[in-house]
Amino acid sequence: MVSLKEVLRDAQKLHYAVPSFNVVTLEMIEGVFRAAENLSSPVIIGLAARHVGQVDPWLIAGAVEKRATRSIVPIVFHFDHAESIESVRLGVDIGCNSVMIDGSKLSLDKNFELTKAVVTFAKSKDVAVEAELGAVGGVEGEIEGGESQQDYTDPGEASKFANETGIDALAVAIGTVHGLYRSAPNLQFEILKAIEQRTDVPLVLHGGSGLSQNEFARLIDLGITKINVFTELAIRCGDRLRINIIARQPPMSIVDILAGASGDIEKVASDFITTFRSAGRA
Ligand code: 13P
Repeated sequence: MVSLKEVLRDAQKLHYAVPSFNVVTLEMIEGVFRAAENLSSPVIIGLAARHVGQVDPWLIAGAVEKRATRSIVPIVFHFDHAESIESVRLGVDIGCNSVMIDGSKLSLDKNFELTKAVVTFAKSKDVAVEAELGAVGGVEGEIEGGESQQDYTDPGEASKFANETGIDALAVAIGTVHGLYRSAPNLQFEILKAIEQRTDVPLVLHGGSGLSQNEFARLIDLGITKINVFTELAIRCGDRLRINIIARQPPMSIVDILAGASGDIEKVASDFITTFRSAGRA
């Protein structure tokens, strides 16, 4: 595994974005690894705090770590959207070398305070920290989505926040949402430009599902270096299982139901990697 800092520094320098795929099954893990390896791309594998109740974080971590030991590309293992120090600790305990602390539901002061505390703790463990300023719409980890009207990141605050907290990456709220878009995305390119001009910290885009190639190109040109994706992978995997179930009569084996899922994930992940200009950067 490599550090978040290292992969994002290269992305910042060479103007591409490293994909960060959240996973909840072995098929998703395998599909993402295969896509990254076939395209020689660095990749961030994420586990969202929200999914911890549904999947055993230790099992996911074990699978990611074991698979990473025979991988030829740089891997970061990221714990996504922790909302408390306890949650961050869990991420670190299971072996993540990068965590996101999401204080977006808090007041600005409380977000500062929590993020600073997480940075102090994570640095002592050699773990990178991403934090969020403003609030990305939708509910992370759910595919339902929302409107892209939201609490946008303030460029002036962003630079102060990044400098004073000592974070390694900053998630910005510029009109993307987690999950499916209920209305056309209303991306705030000018805000992104202003944030990028005021801070050196690598910028992260949440809600990567559902944007066009042109939108991604513009976002990356304006300084986005990490793009989080979950919904499109989750839907493709779910749809594959549904197709497999419909195509068969009972009694049905779970092996037949899962057939082709990792291949589908590989295809979706590969498209993102190519769009993010991350292919060949490993
Ligand atoms: P999507 O589910 O919209 O792809 O967003 C994922 C994300 O931002 C995880 O942090």
